[in-house]
Amino acid sequence: MITINFIAADGQLTGTTAQTGKNLMQAAVAAGVEGIAADCGGLMTCATCHVHVREPFAAQLPPPDGEELAMLAFTATPSRPNSRLSCQIKLTEALDGLTVELPVTQY
Ligand code: FES
Repeated sequence: MITINFIAADGQLTGTTAQTGKNLMQAAVAAGVEGIAADCGGLMTCATCHVHVREPFAAQLPPPDGEELAMLAFTATPSRPNSRLSCQIKLTEALDGLTVELPVTQY
């Protein structure tokens, strides 16, 4: 189990734990985190699981592939350099303490 922190656009912090092997979107949905819509269930066709990943974790993640980069162009809140689709972030022990900021809106 690892610890994950979600910071809403209003600054509210939601901390949770999750099993490694799952993805970040699944952990958010399981924890009832508002602000992760995940309409497509992880099929990478909705971009409503957009998050901004804080350092040092952003630099530790494998870079987004072309398909994820293409979807990041369609996020409701403009993407930043540290934007990722949470359904594409596989949770590993190295990500213990992962902290992500949620965008103002997913629509
Ligand atoms: Fe739809 Fe991630 S859940 S793109």
